[in-house]
Amino acid sequence: MEKLVSLCKRRGIVFPSSEIYGGVGSFWDYGPLGVEIKQNIKELWWEDIVRLRDDVVGVETSIIMHPDVWLASGHVGSFYDSLVDCKVCKKRYRLDHLSSKKCPECGGELTEARNFNLMFETHIGPVEKEASKAYLRPETAQGIFVDFSTILNCSRQKIPFGIAQVGKSFRNEVSPGNFIFRSREFEQMELEYFVAPQTDEEWFKYWLDKRFKWYVSLGIKKEKLRLRKHNQNELAHYAKECYDIEYEFPFGWQELEGIANRSTFDLEVHIKRSGKDLSYFDEKTKERFIPVVIETSAGVDRTLLALLVDAYNEEEVEGEQRVILRFHPRVAPIKAGVFPLVRKGGLAEKAQDVEKMLRPHFATFYDEVGSIGRRYRRQDEVGTPYGITIDFQTLKDDTVTVRYRDSMDQDRVKIPELRFFIEKKIENGIS
Ligand code: GAP
Repeated sequence: MEKLVSLCKRRGIVFPSSEIYGGVGSFWDYGPLGVEIKQNIKELWWEDIVRLRDDVVGVETSIIMHPDVWLASGHVGSFYDSLVDCKVCKKRYRLDHLSSKKCPECGGELTEARNFNLMFETHIGPVEKEASKAYLRPETAQGIFVDFSTILNCSRQKIPFGIAQVGKSFRNEVSPGNFIFRSREFEQMELEYFVAPQTDEEWFKYWLDKRFKWYVSLGIKKEKLRLRKHNQNELAHYAKECYDIEYEFPFGWQELEGIANRSTFDLEVHIKRSGKDLSYFDEKTKERFIPVVIETSAGVDRTLLALLVDAYNEEEVEGEQRVILRFHPRVAPIKAGVFPLVRKGGLAEKAQDVEKMLRPHFATFYDEVGSIGRRYRRQDEVGTPYGITIDFQTLKDDTVTVRYRDSMDQDRVKIPELRFFIEKKIENGIS
């Protein structure tokens, strides 16, 4: 983890927020390469969940919502962690993270547990009165539930159908940590899939399987992924059944995504509190019912961390150490590095032309500084799958060398065919 954190900072992937002021508890900034990877993750999710399906539509709801939303949803009353303090060394712990009744650090006696709500509070308008109190959303899901009827009407979807959202969520976590694994501001990719009662178990299985395969499609090693069923005592207040998709991080098996059967809980509590009808009328059976919700809730930041951990490798090449991120080409922030073998003889200009030609189609990076070996290493370190080198032969026959990051094999490709050649390799995951 230490090596990864330092690579992320050095190469502009992720680093602490407000660093010139000493950082601020578990908030992170994403640099030029980090935002590209995040963007790729979100696009791949959106493509799989929304764009390639005709039964899911997207939405973007506001981060601050009516405070009644959180009273109705149960987050004001039930979204908390139980905390204990060590009476001796004063360290604070989450009760559910402890395996004994003594302080894990010094063995001291612990205080009684106290509940701490995880929602960040703020105020709407210029006066900080109790009546103006509002919350930063701790999940994007509630925006979907309260907009259910509006979206149903405007999209003319029929059950079963889903509403998807990608966006920031905020939790005043008691024990954040492990780099970007648990932070206080993070991004979620959530799908709420509305189904008829009695069909929920079948849909639950469908989404479990589909979501597990998505992580494999990102190139994450299958043996590092597993499904874990929640025990009755760890189920969230809204869940009837829940599984986590877990990844084996260097700090143990941990949740990447939660897949939950939220039953009719959310729609019912909002019907009750708002007094609005959020039921569904089935034209075929002429029946009116409250749909059951199957939720898939993934974290962008956690997916990125799993991708980084999974891709990180160190190896020796010709007596030199090479650090390499073996990203699947679809995830890689830069798809192709473009290099003139040397700057002179018209090679730099030719290489710049090639880079300009490829740039509208996928992310490229032009580099003419240092030996060609060093330039390859710099791209290996950030996971660029292809290195394109323009040499003196290029000027004679309009071909370039394509060097693969993982195998370090090389192909000679004609410039007019280069774009499609690389696009095919990206699609097939060859690097
Ligand atoms: N709507 C359901 C929900 O929010 P969750 O299990 O609390 O369920 C879903 O969160 C996902 O959001 C997690 O699997 C994780 O990927 C991400 N997530 C939750 N809390 C996080 C945090 N503090 N930092 C980073 N990601 C977090």
